[in-house]
Amino acid sequence: MDTVDQYAVYGNPVKHSKSPQIHAAFAEQTGQLLHYRAHKVELGRFAEAAAEFFRNGGRGLNITVPFKLDAFEFADELSGRARRAGAVNTLARGEDGRIYGDNTDGVGMVRDINDNLGWQLGGRRILVLGAGGAVRGILGPLLKQRPSEVVIANRTPAKAEALAELFAELGAVSGRPFEALAGSQFDLIINGTSASMSGDLPPLPSHILSNEGCAYDMMYGAEPTPFMRWAAAETAWAVSDGLGMLVEQAAESFCIWRGLRPDTRPVIELIRQSLSL
Ligand code: ATR
Repeated sequence: MDTVDQYAVYGNPVKHSKSPQIHAAFAEQTGQLLHYRAHKVELGRFAEAAAEFFRNGGRGLNITVPFKLDAFEFADELSGRARRAGAVNTLARGEDGRIYGDNTDGVGMVRDINDNLGWQLGGRRILVLGAGGAVRGILGPLLKQRPSEVVIANRTPAKAEALAELFAELGAVSGRPFEALAGSQFDLIINGTSASMSGDLPPLPSHILSNEGCAYDMMYGAEPTPFMRWAAAETAWAVSDGLGMLVEQAAESFCIWRGLRPDTRPVIELIRQSLSL
């Protein structure tokens, strides 16, 4: 068995994952001895691969597209937020050998918005774009911040309505089609659609950002996404991509595994620099 604690991110594709770089930086900063690698898992083979990893003494996994649901099913025990998210991005092996599943995406986004960007969430009118897995992962932690309302807008409105219903007991949340947004105003718009990946912009009407309204894209890249450019043209007060969320969700996973919270700011800087190389 390896003497250095083993961690990994499992996904497909996983080649461009920043997680090994992020966790290596956390380990160095906190003086922890560990090894973290990215591993491509064949489709349909997640449970087999994860079982082998833990059987060989592996301590923890991050899980990315498309295996977050498989990881949810793989875990012996789930956190409340993972259960609500319906997905797991962090697996940890306990001392008793049981596998604990958590989801740190939502709390990562909230930490980035609150602590790094300094934007307020409590009492704000928030519009969330998209109703897929990414959005389901953030709704619980977002509603916990007590915004005055959360509106979910989606191309397929039934999915937005179903998601709103699922989270209704946590706060004021409703679903709408994009066409029904005109005339409303929001203090924060969060893009959780995968539109940015194909260079697309969700069909947003103009003038839906309030005077000091902010815009947050859960995606990131070397260049601003189409949604970020739209928000800047709508004279948003502030605009951000989701790089900070990526680092914060990793920090939360690191904390689950090692019991230590790393300082994320220098690591966000480091990853930001590596994007433009
Ligand atoms: P993820 O796990 O990244 O959330 P997903 O579950 O496939 O992926 O969800 C993708 C989301 O992006 C959905 O809300 C999708 O809208 P539909 O439910 O109507 O399919 C949304 N989406 C993808 N491309 C889009 C586009 N070009 N414009 C608007 N919404 C888009």
